[in-house]
Amino acid sequence: MKKIVISTGGGDAPGLNAVIFAVVHSCYKRGWEVYGSRDGYAGFLDIDDMIRLTPKDVAEIYSTGGTILGSTNKGNPFSRPVENLAGEIQVIDVSDKILKNFNRMGFDCHIAIGGDGSLDIANRFAEKGMPVIGVPKTIDNDLEETDRTFGFDTAVSTATEALDKLHSTAKSHNRVMVVEVMGRDSGWIALYSGISGGADAILIPEIPFDMEEVCEKISDNELHGKHYAIVVVAEGAKTKEGTAFNKGEGELGREEVVLGGVGEYVASEIRKRTDKDTRSLVLGHLQRGGSPTTFDRLLALRFGTAAVRMVEEKKFGHMVALHNSKMVPVPIVDAIKNRKKVQTDCDKISTAEDIGICLGGTSGGWRLTR
Ligand code: F6P
Repeated sequence: MKKIVISTGGGDAPGLNAVIFAVVHSCYKRGWEVYGSRDGYAGFLDIDDMIRLTPKDVAEIYSTGGTILGSTNKGNPFSRPVENLAGEIQVIDVSDKILKNFNRMGFDCHIAIGGDGSLDIANRFAEKGMPVIGVPKTIDNDLEETDRTFGFDTAVSTATEALDKLHSTAKSHNRVMVVEVMGRDSGWIALYSGISGGADAILIPEIPFDMEEVCEKISDNELHGKHYAIVVVAEGAKTKEGTAFNKGEGELGREEVVLGGVGEYVASEIRKRTDKDTRSLVLGHLQRGGSPTTFDRLLALRFGTAAVRMVEEKKFGHMVALHNSKMVPVPIVDAIKNRKKVQTDCDKISTAEDIGICLGGTSGGWRLTR
């Protein structure tokens, strides 16, 4: 008999509940107990707060968005900001307390479902001796060592649907619509949704963009009788001069800067340089919401069950990964080393250019050669 504890950390992603469902059922089948920690690691700080999870508690959650356990991207237990009696903010390390409670509860393993930030924390606990298995989650698809993370397919579908809807209004008003999508420093969501959703230009962090090039594409549209355009911009895209866009300092306890603003910048430059009526919108957290697609559900269910098999095989310190359609263990430390970027020589980039999409760089690959 084993006792497992699950946590969901970082920004939520469609498919989290499917992983929880899969872990609970796989453990139940083996006669093991499962607990859930609330809001990432917060639940570990008070053992009375741990949630016992049985198949009845997770009935039908595989098809729902969000996480029944709650999540946070502010609660790093190794550097947790707390307010002292004088009202000052102090940063404290509560990792020893968490490890102590893990042992007091008699847990055999912690299944940590998270992106780079949460898996980095999980890895630090593994280094402190906690048996940990990781499950890769993020709509950004930016984790190394796995072909896919769950949540990405749903986010791309949502963004593509939004682009489909924008075509008719852009066309009716002869407008340029600039759509800012998520993805942090990786352009996966922008590239996949932009190609599939008929964008005229896609700007991703991997290719610093030149506004001249983007405006030339819009003027080229005009020349060819197309008086509207759709531009997809990843939130982490930068100008060729190196300007990045974020919302400043961020929030207390949040380690990553809050990105945003590039869509409005691109729209205002297009307006200025082409005189076209231009609007911008930020798809934002819509991309994280809703029910997981079939692909994400299945991937999440496969990740959850494979994670439990990895507990059985004592593959602690490893993350379950998708490699060429197979579930394989990879060291967590390798998965979090770098962010997975779009390779600029991949076939999706060639596909975009061959169908005339401007990628904002100076290669001009979208141009007709005759
Ligand atoms: O990492 C997932 C993600 O949705 C990013 O794409 C985005 O930059 C960030 O999280 C937003 O985080 P928050 O929930 O704090 O607004």
